[in-house]
Amino acid sequence: MNILGIETSCDETAAAVLDGEGRVCSSIVSSQIELHAPYGGIVPEIAARQHLEAIEPVIDRALERAGRRLSDIGGIAVTCGPGLIGCLLVGTAFARSLALARRLPVVGVNHLEGHVVSGWIDRPKLAYPALALVVSGGHTGLWRVPEPGRYVLLARTRDDAAGEALDKVGKLLGLAYPGGPAIDRLGERGDPQAVRFGEVRIKDGPAFSFSGYKTAVRVYLEKTGLAPLTDPEQDPPQQMLDLIASFRCAVVRELVRQTRRAIEEQRPASLVLAGGVAASQLLRREISTLSEDFALAPSIPELRYCGDNAAMIALAGRRRLLAGDDEIDRLETAASLPLGGPEARRRSKRHR
Ligand code: KG4
Ligand code: ZN
Repeated sequence: MNILGIETSCDETAAAVLDGEGRVCSSIVSSQIELHAPYGGIVPEIAARQHLEAIEPVIDRALERAGRRLSDIGGIAVTCGPGLIGCLLVGTAFARSLALARRLPVVGVNHLEGHVVSGWIDRPKLAYPALALVVSGGHTGLWRVPEPGRYVLLARTRDDAAGEALDKVGKLLGLAYPGGPAIDRLGERGDPQAVRFGEVRIKDGPAFSFSGYKTAVRVYLEKTGLAPLTDPEQDPPQQMLDLIASFRCAVVRELVRQTRRAIEEQRPASLVLAGGVAASQLLRREISTLSEDFALAPSIPELRYCGDNAAMIALAGRRRLLAGDDEIDRLETAASLPLGGPEARRRSKRHR
């Protein structure tokens, strides 16, 4: 079955086609970053309107790149949450109409499940049980994946997602939006030991927390009088490069510390790193080293599958489509949609 995947949960309009074996034939991502950059963050109304404009051409391009027509598609997988509700609605409404018009089955996919399964896009034989660290702008969490389609939430952030903290600090420092890539690049040029960021201590863990680091950066700027850049293109002074390197290192250290703890406890067979922040060179290096320490098979997707994309959504929906699932009459969108935690279990009971 050829599958069409559609993703519109945040600021990327994406479509992808998988062939009968589950291989990616095409994956098109149209980013809105430049539209939102002047506002220093995503404006939901602008995002939804842009998805409306982009969705049809993006799907057309995905089909064309895959050398397929709509009549070759056997099922549709679309992100139904979590995300910005107006944005999700564009994707699910479009998917529903396509499904109705073409008499195709359609399934809603949890965006977080998409990020987790991105670890299997290029490594379909990756062993279970797996441990997946998903680090993006909206979410940061660790999941145990005992078998395909089952997710157990082990830890998630109590406040900011790691990417959100990177982006907020980027804004504080006057860096280009989003701050994550700039912090990753500039961090290579500073001394990660220069500014001390303590270890995060959380009661009733395991959990992540990143908002304290963001506050520490703000306090450092106030105390030292280090001024933010007036132009994002400006080359930062060494003091700022050192601050960036130390902050970047602290965020990565925290992600790695919790992952190490989970590996020791869970003893998984493989380790997946996913989400937009998985593009960080430092995080990629550290997670590779961690996998070596425990002789685990690591899966760190190519950069194009780290950020939001529809190939991961198509792959996450594939198992259910192959099993004959069709949600045409019950496709719902939800701004908040937990994956594999106690809230998710409560929700799925309610839906039964
Ligand atoms: O997964 P994603 O594309 O969207 C969400 O679902 O949130 O992740 C976007 C996040 C942003 O916070 C961005 O700053 C961060 O990924 N990011 C990076 C890098 N590239 C993108 N963070 C660190 N290093 C990078 N190279
Ligand atoms: Zn995402």
